[in-house]
Amino acid sequence: MATYSMLDTLRDGRRVETRALQPDDQAGFAHAISRASSQSLYRRFFVFKRYVSEAEIASFVNVDFVNHVALIAVMNEGGRPVIVGGARYVVSKPSQAEVAFAVVDAYQGQGIGTILMRHLGAIARQAGINELVADVLPENIPMLRVFERSGFSPTTKRGLGIVQVTLKLL
Ligand SMILES: CC(C)(COP(=O)(O)OP(=O)(O)OC[C@H]1O[C@@H](n2cnc3c(N)ncnc32)[C@H](O)[C@@H]1OP(=O)(O)O)[C@@H](O)C(=O)NCCC(=O)NCCS
Repeated sequence: MATYSMLDTLRDGRRVETRALQPDDQAGFAHAISRASSQSLYRRFFVFKRYVSEAEIASFVNVDFVNHVALIAVMNEGGRPVIVGGARYVVSKPSQAEVAFAVVDAYQGQGIGTILMRHLGAIARQAGINELVADVLPENIPMLRVFERSGFSPTTKRGLGIVQVTLKLL
């Protein structure tokens, strides 16, 4: 799966590649994070972060594609491939994994989160994962919409300031 690469076309005809995150993506990954708004970082990490440290970025890029699977969405920007989003899962219990997503603000609302969900769901299913779970802020409608449209019939449980979403893959 570390060689995963798929092409999709957005509604406006632009192409997006969804591929496995590689160790040499660290600089591109850091650049993508630097472009994210504080609201997006808060929705992803649940704390206000002014920046994400190099050590954190290194840990995001250090994935084994078994217990920690990470995909990135790459698009052409001025003739160069740039990372515009990412999605990952981390196996938390046998056959269950936690998922998280982030798309660079300028690229949100164009279907990239939905595309990442489709690919990550397919990989998880193939790996024998039965359930994907995510903690989402209740006001995070775009994330909840991505899960609703995933085809995996999400169930939600409300906690204190958090919605826990469960997707059944099997
Ligand atoms: C959540 C996130 C990953 C979704 O990615 P995306 O590429 O924007 O998602 P998509 O474009 O595939 O779909 C978003 C859906 O939400 C809808 N949407 C977007 N903004 C919305 C808003 N403010 N209110 C209601 N719906 C909204 C879109 O219209 C779309 O639904 P539709 O296709 O039915 O129209 C992205 O918004 C993001 O990175 N957010 C910040 C980080 C984050 O929240 N991470 C989640 C932690 S688990």
